[in-house]
Amino acid sequence: MAERDLRPYEIPEEHEAVSDIIRRHSTNPADVRIMALDRHDIFFARRVLDLGCGFGFMAEEVARRVHAQAVVTGVDALPANREPFVARVRGAGRQARFVTERLESALPCAPESFDLVVSSYSLYFFPQIIPEVSRVLARDGLFLAVTHSMSSTRAVLRLAGLPVEGSPLLDQVGRFCAERGRGALSLLRQGGTRGLPEPPALLGGGGG
Ligand SMILES: C[S@@+](CC[C@H](N)C(=O)[O-])C[C@H]1O[C@@H](n2cnc3c(N)ncnc32)[C@H](O)[C@@H]1O
Repeated sequence: MAERDLRPYEIPEEHEAVSDIIRRHSTNPADVRIMALDRHDIFFARRVLDLGCGFGFMAEEVARRVHAQAVVTGVDALPANREPFVARVRGAGRQARFVTERLESALPCAPESFDLVVSSYSLYFFPQIIPEVSRVLARDGLFLAVTHSMSSTRAVLRLAGLPVEGSPLLDQVGRFCAERGRGALSLLRQGGTRGLPEPPALLGGGGG
């Protein structure tokens, strides 16, 4: 599979500034990540894993809501995220661990070692990891994934005056988009991981 370009996330301050612009100009004044968290009581979670954690926006919000003794572990391909991630989680009063790893299809974690796994706006970089999420989650654990929809991605491209057809962004989001993500996750619930089609067949772009 082609290496994904992670340059937009290389400098945490720039990533944070872009994130802030998106929030301020969005027609929805609420951040979808916070709306998703508001729907779940996650105080039960003591062992938390954030995949593709970036500078820790989601992790900070999660940290405020999980058990007081919780440890929040972030994994991200870019080491520059360590410092802001750890600072944000500690600022929320929880213990933080950061692992620099470019995720593909394996998680370096023991089975059932997390109560809560979150992945916000990042699972489309590594959708092959979904079976591993199922392996590392505790039996009554929760997996919370936030992603974009194909339709909103198309709208963003149009607003930016960029070609929609053949867009690499659309291709990226299509690997785990709102329109198809639920189907991918429920397949896992029903039949485990065996026989799961390769991501392009299951989650590929062009739909939605
Ligand atoms: C759009 S940002 C989302 C960050 C954070 N989850 C949030 O909600 O603010 C995507 C993040 O995924 C990370 N990422 C992309 N591909 C990755 C991979 N294969 N393994 C680990 N991290 C990856 C990027 O470095 C970036 O920090």
